[in-house]
Amino acid sequence: AIDLEGRHFLKELDFTPEEFRALIVLAARLKAEKRAGTERRRLTGKNIALIFEKASTRTRCAFEVAAADQGAFTTYIDPAGSHIGRKESAKDTARVLGRMFDAIQFRGDAQATVEQLAEYAGVPVYNGLTDEWHPTQMLADVLTMTEHCDKPLEEMALAYLGDARFNMGNSYLITGALLGLDIRIVAPRAYWPAEEFIGRARELARSTGARITLTEEVPEGVRGADFVATDVWVSMGEPQEVWDERIKALSPYTVTMDVLRATGNPQVRFLHCLPAFHDLDTSVARGIHGRYGLTELEVTDEVFESEHSVVFDEAENRMHTIKAVMVATLARDPAPEPVAPA
Ligand code: CP
Ligand code: NVA
Repeated sequence: AIDLEGRHFLKELDFTPEEFRALIVLAARLKAEKRAGTERRRLTGKNIALIFEKASTRTRCAFEVAAADQGAFTTYIDPAGSHIGRKESAKDTARVLGRMFDAIQFRGDAQATVEQLAEYAGVPVYNGLTDEWHPTQMLADVLTMTEHCDKPLEEMALAYLGDARFNMGNSYLITGALLGLDIRIVAPRAYWPAEEFIGRARELARSTGARITLTEEVPEGVRGADFVATDVWVSMGEPQEVWDERIKALSPYTVTMDVLRATGNPQVRFLHCLPAFHDLDTSVARGIHGRYGLTELEVTDEVFESEHSVVFDEAENRMHTIKAVMVATLARDPAPEPVAPA
């Protein structure tokens, strides 16, 4: 049996394929339990600290709802609400919070910060997104993929288009390699993941059977894909000045209906971790519209709203999968025998 009690959840590279799959199976079971109204509380009385150096809708709410469902309490620490990184080091913060909490979630810029929290906290630490990795998002995406495609994971093909040198691109590359997928990074070369991560992915692929493709060509990159995924072109924490170069470099990689058609797969599904830039009327969108005349960037509104889009299942699955991470790492009796994902 796979035992993850006491483990951190910092990046996909820390897990074996079996461990990662066990979390997906557990999440599917917790989701089915919740749907059936038979959820058992496995985290009664646990306390979880949620440190956010950056904004969040899904990740924060997923942790809070999942904890409440399981009988645990959360303390939300907003970007200005603690001393971490200003008056107090991550190392000291970890040792303080580790005395009070049973686990700590961190979202921020540097992977080094979440790794340092993990080194000193003495309790499980979860990465709720850094510039380098978004591992809880990958659990949600893989659960969503198993729900929307009948093939085993090793037979699925996923093409990620757009900015692939940041958290989402890195995470798709490594998760795909870990789980034996046919994983394609479709982006200008300057936006591919770092050489180091490509090397790690190729290394993993040798044992998992994954197929790794990096290409600048959209039609070739998406042909036969079961899933097409993308992410915003400018991520949290990046300066506004990068918009010019991003729009210039990444416009050919917008996920349009033509891109979905180029897969040749009428069943192709569209994934996006969200938030997404499509036909918005928000303050950020108005700024972009004013400057570039654009209302759609990484995905068209047509694709986003189409029957191909499974982005809200994906968003819901953040909660079930984050619950699985907490249950697997904190509960004494996480689960008896795994059942197959729904
Ligand atoms: N996908 C995701 O992490 O969303 P939030 O930034 O809203 O948490
Ligand atoms: N790449 C995006 C993901 C948001 C969930 C960001 O880091 O802002």
